[in-house]
Amino acid sequence: MASILESESRLRRIVDSQGQQHVFRFWDQLGTPQREQLLSELDSLDFEEVSRLIQQHIKGNESGHGVSHPEPSPYIRLPQTEEERHRHQEAWEQGVEAVRQGRVAAFLVAGGQGTRLGYDGPKGCFPIGPLSNKTLFQLFAEKILATCRRYGAVVPWYIMTSRDNDEISRRFFEEHDYFGLPRENVLFFRQGMMPAVDQDGLLLMDSPHSLALTPDGHGGAIRALKRSGALDDMARRGVAYISHFQVDNVLVQPIDPVFIGFHVQTGSQMSSRMVKKRSPDERVGNFCLVDGRLHVIEYSDMRPELAERRRPDGSLYFEAGNVAIHIYDVDFVSQLNQRGYELPFHRAWKKVPFVNDLSHRIRPRQPNANKFEMFVFDALPAARRTMILEGARESIFSPVKNARGEDSVETAQHDMTAEVVRWLRAAAVKTPVDSNGEPTVKLEVSPLFALDETGFVEQARQRSLTAVTADTYFE
Ligand code: UD1
Repeated sequence: MASILESESRLRRIVDSQGQQHVFRFWDQLGTPQREQLLSELDSLDFEEVSRLIQQHIKGNESGHGVSHPEPSPYIRLPQTEEERHRHQEAWEQGVEAVRQGRVAAFLVAGGQGTRLGYDGPKGCFPIGPLSNKTLFQLFAEKILATCRRYGAVVPWYIMTSRDNDEISRRFFEEHDYFGLPRENVLFFRQGMMPAVDQDGLLLMDSPHSLALTPDGHGGAIRALKRSGALDDMARRGVAYISHFQVDNVLVQPIDPVFIGFHVQTGSQMSSRMVKKRSPDERVGNFCLVDGRLHVIEYSDMRPELAERRRPDGSLYFEAGNVAIHIYDVDFVSQLNQRGYELPFHRAWKKVPFVNDLSHRIRPRQPNANKFEMFVFDALPAARRTMILEGARESIFSPVKNARGEDSVETAQHDMTAEVVRWLRAAAVKTPVDSNGEPTVKLEVSPLFALDETGFVEQARQRSLTAVTADTYFE
């Protein structure tokens, strides 16, 4: 092993050549463990990559999607005809078969910092159940458990965390006994970190002996799946399809047989779900074809005149919104890693705490740093074949992003309750509602009671349920 002295001189040479020598400015005040930490962080940086990104995004002329000529992407619409209903039924059967054979893994990306919600902890630990106060992690765990019970299947669940929330997320599962899932089927791994840099491209420091590092985006999953050994673990278990979802979506089904079935049937390597956008400026990505290949153009990159364009019937020309639910083949992720293929990095201008020259830690009130992130949907254009499946928004998408207003705790709980009201109606159970159709009692269904409408109707029938009259938690 190289001595501290050797590492120091090697790394000093590297940072000097990159114009980043300020990272050593507190060196004389540091004790040995701190010096080791700084050296190890510097050693793990890919300086070539960092310098390329600074050149490309900060010093050079970044060219975004502005010059491309996107077209709307085709998708499989919600079934409207008998034939389409039949195709969906077939897809469901095929999906169930793949789940039963153990060919599908659930994959949660939970490495984000969740700053908009203002919650101090991993977002998965946020209590969201309107009556039960169940956390997002528990909801997903129970949906996966219910799926396993319903289909007599084993579904391994991989969870991607990041350096800052890994330990606490793991401990949370440990303390709650993995919410009833066999612990050998819940597997955590960490995504990579990227350095934050200031407006001049200089590395920011989080303390005198550490760099300001931020998670490398959910697209970091593509390399982290490989580097962590998760991909090999999947292959050993016979998993062929990865069902990807985000920690913020309270309505997501981590394992959706219809989606899986269509993915398998169409021979797609990477598939995505979409919902029709609510408005031109809804903060979701747009599925588009650019030069014949499928891309997601983020809301922030979509030119307003394109976002607002409408068809003669008044519907949006670019209507397919990204709800961040994807399926990709294990083989596809392996191929991406083999080829040395890299997802592009995107730059975001954000608030990142840092130490100043007096070694005071500053929590900026205004953005001060460039963060670099990869997005998993940027793998879509590399797929040999892709497929997009429409979903009903009220059944698949309600994200908790903000503390208040749109896409908040309030709207997510409202949407969870609205789903129960629909299920009660389907089961012909009387429910007290006001003149707007909103229930006048609080309602929640545990995923272990019913996973979907069909399951709920069946349960209601078995229990001869005819009416609810007070706050009810179906568990
Ligand atoms: C994202 C999508 C957007 C989509 C919307 C749907 C991006 C850039 N945009 O927006 O197209 O319409 O969701 O809700 O993704 N995460 C990590 N590691 C990271 C960063 C994020 O695991 O380094 C995870 C988060 O924990 C979360 C998810 O990725 O589960 C979403 O991240 P977020 O940054 O909140 O995405 P949005 O900008 O809301």
